[in-house]
Amino acid sequence: MLVLGIETSCDETACAIVRDGKKICSEVVVTQIPYHRRFGGVVPEIASRRHLEAINSVVEEALFKSGFEMSHIDRFAVTVGPGLTGSLIVGITAARALGEIYDKPVFGVNHILAHLSVNFLSADISLPYIGLTASGGHCDLVFAKSHDEFELLAKTRDDAPGEAFDKTAKMLGFPYPGGAEIEKIALGGNEHAVKFPVPRFKDGSEDFSFSGIKTFVKNLISKTDKKKLPDLAASFQKSIATIFADKIIAAAKKKRCQRVLVAGGVMANSFITAHLEEECVKNSLQLFYPKAQLCTDNACMVACRGFWQKKSLPLRPEPDLKI
Ligand code: KG4
Ligand code: ZN
Repeated sequence: MLVLGIETSCDETACAIVRDGKKICSEVVVTQIPYHRRFGGVVPEIASRRHLEAINSVVEEALFKSGFEMSHIDRFAVTVGPGLTGSLIVGITAARALGEIYDKPVFGVNHILAHLSVNFLSADISLPYIGLTASGGHCDLVFAKSHDEFELLAKTRDDAPGEAFDKTAKMLGFPYPGGAEIEKIALGGNEHAVKFPVPRFKDGSEDFSFSGIKTFVKNLISKTDKKKLPDLAASFQKSIATIFADKIIAAAKKKRCQRVLVAGGVMANSFITAHLEEECVKNSLQLFYPKAQLCTDNACMVACRGFWQKKSLPLRPEPDLKI
């Protein structure tokens, strides 16, 4: 089955064609980051306008690169949420129009679950699994009983981990989004140099929290000698990796599940995935994570999710779509 996926939920206009959830036939990602950079974050009005300008050529290019005709596509898939309303409308409208013209089904998919789906491209993974999506807007830990049944185990109560990376990078003078810059500075640092607080909730909740870590790093940056910044960046990264590992291991034990899938922009960080790999091996868990390019927003993930899902989500924008 050939699925054409469209992603426009935030600041990437993307289209990809994937065969049987396994083979990427083509993919195109046009990022808007340069247009948002001077504002220090994504500006919704600019985002929807840019999606509108880019969508037709992005879809055409993906089709051209695949060598297929539009009539060969069996299903269209599109992100319906969570995301920016105006941006989601552009992708949904394009997918609906294609479905109508070519008389093929259109599957609305959840962006957070789509992130996890790219793991199925390179490996045959049986279910159930524990999944963690960690990105610029989200941090969701799920238990996937099947491709259509998900239990939300924990979510962030404040910032997303990517936000903590971006805000820390901004404090160090890097442009938005600075997550990858933190990874670069941290390369020469000692991850044991600074002890970070471990976020806990008084009500015993298993949820994530990253705002305390961000404030902690903010207070330290001004007092830290420039030469010691790599140590601070490495310790910051380690604290986030430790939170991920602890939550994943606790969830795997609770659900008696040995498979773990992670994804989302923050998982492009190779220190974090190496730490997770180490901890998973120690706990006899099998870890799957995508290559860095498929961790950040793309449309392969939408096409993959569209392949595995049994039925479509309603084809309307759901900015706060939950799992
Ligand atoms: O998944 P994504 O592309 O978009 C959302 O759905 O939010 O994630 C983007 C986030 C940004 O916050 C970015 O700084 C972060 O992923 N990111 C990283 C790295 N590469 C991207 N964070 C840490 N280390 C990286 N190498
Ligand atoms: Zn994303």
